[in-house]
Amino acid sequence: MVTLAPLRQRRSFQQLQSTFQEIGARHLREFFDRDPDRGTRLSLEAEGIYLDYSKNRVDDETLRLLLELARESGVPERRDAMFAGERINVSENRAVLHVALRMPETRSLVVEGVDVVAEVHQVLRRMADFASRVRSGEWTGFTGRPIKNVVNIGIGGSDLGPVMAYEALRYYSRRDMTFRFVSNVDATDFVEAVHDLDATETLFIVSSKTFGTIETLTNARSARAWLVERLGEEAAVARHFVAVSTNEALVSAFGIDTANMFGFWDWVGGRYSMDSAIGLSTMVAIGPEHFYELLEGFHAMDEHFRFAPLEENLPVIHAMLALWNREFLGCETVGVMPYDQYLKRLPAYLQQLTMESNGKHVTLDGSRVDYPTGPIYWGEPGTNGQHSFYQLIHQGTSIVPVDLIDFARSLNPLGQHHDILTSNVFAQAQALAFGRTAEELRDQGAPEHEIAHRVMEGNRPTNVLMGDVLTPRFLGSLIALYEHSVFVQGTVWGIDSYDQWGVELGKVLATTIIGDLESSDSDLHYDSSTNALIRRYRDRKN
Ligand code: F6P
Repeated sequence: MVTLAPLRQRRSFQQLQSTFQEIGARHLREFFDRDPDRGTRLSLEAEGIYLDYSKNRVDDETLRLLLELARESGVPERRDAMFAGERINVSENRAVLHVALRMPETRSLVVEGVDVVAEVHQVLRRMADFASRVRSGEWTGFTGRPIKNVVNIGIGGSDLGPVMAYEALRYYSRRDMTFRFVSNVDATDFVEAVHDLDATETLFIVSSKTFGTIETLTNARSARAWLVERLGEEAAVARHFVAVSTNEALVSAFGIDTANMFGFWDWVGGRYSMDSAIGLSTMVAIGPEHFYELLEGFHAMDEHFRFAPLEENLPVIHAMLALWNREFLGCETVGVMPYDQYLKRLPAYLQQLTMESNGKHVTLDGSRVDYPTGPIYWGEPGTNGQHSFYQLIHQGTSIVPVDLIDFARSLNPLGQHHDILTSNVFAQAQALAFGRTAEELRDQGAPEHEIAHRVMEGNRPTNVLMGDVLTPRFLGSLIALYEHSVFVQGTVWGIDSYDQWGVELGKVLATTIIGDLESSDSDLHYDSSTNALIRRYRDRKN
């Protein structure tokens, strides 16, 4: 692996620093005044996604230097290493090959002697066969009734992808079936998910890469008890439980026949797994054909990322602008606002993708970074957010760059709804960029005592991402765009975007504490706060 100079010592980074003196002080109004074609010039289109990035606080020289920084940081080489199956996840010593999950059957990718594409398609065929049998009613429950309800049990990447994709593609889903998603170990999640379901018609998909995650296993055990209690026999489990995992031994130990297991591989990160067998619930919901379209969308963006010059490369441009906002404008958070109700779980999905990937404080060689890395991602579907937190985005003291996602056509055209929705996207981007000056307010006759309160400084960066209409293919391309953007940012920061050690400590500590909550007489040796909380819980739990 090539050793990179620390970020702040890279030549292009230092050049960016010197241009920032001037660019950082320039207002978006001025960028647009100087360049009347900016709105079309600073835009890109690939795989059905139109990106208008003109409302970012950059000029041509900034963009040139940002791409130079990508090059100097080894983005093209690391991208090629990822596609070649090299072990770029260094802290876990693993390849990172989610791109193989969506390669067409005609391709082959041999990694350490194994054609991973052939393996992927073997599993896809089994998934398609199973999904078709469930959808047609050929696969029946223990009493011979067809499956009407599918409950995916999983957490993190084994939940957020499936639930986001189900909601996003609900329009294409079987409306005579019910799909539910259980993730939280709070029993309420499971109890509410099944309270109106008929066990004879219910299929549980237990999704866990490791099959060792306590939340998922606890929910799966409760699901099995719920089913057996209603159907009266352990033997019923075989018709009502399937597993998605990389761990055959633990699936078998749990009591699920490995003939009903759909596998994947350690080179698929949890948060990069929605297009692996983890997407089984998605495939049952939308059908194999639509699932293949989703994969085609992912693959099309992979190819674009791999082969398009950096200047025309959507994920690279998206990433380098995000990096500029983080490193130079100092933005600590990023808003993702989909103006499409079907994408309501996209912000939650992207939170894991971005923050579990780039929320790291050491570089690949373990040195502490001396620059900020991954920002906080958050969001809500528009227009709801506009009537709550957008106040802070417009007039607060923090600059929050926002990705606004919109479609030219609605899947549910109804009266004026879609024009009203879209007018809000454009109006928000406009208001955030250009604001409203005191002079404009005075010209409009605003009373003097209101002026200071009503002035909007503007100069808030946004991207507008527009598609024609939300399809499975579009969703695949959109998610791949974010995946690769995260990768490019992580590469420039020099961090391992594919490990997640930070979530491990909490898991270990929780396991220790469980025993002390269950026995009321053990001595407590934690800190005084934890001891007091445990005592209070013990006193009151019964
Ligand atoms: O807790 C973090 C995590 O490891 C995620 O990275 C992962 O998506 C999630 O837990 C679920 O893990 P599994 O699929 O192994 O149950």
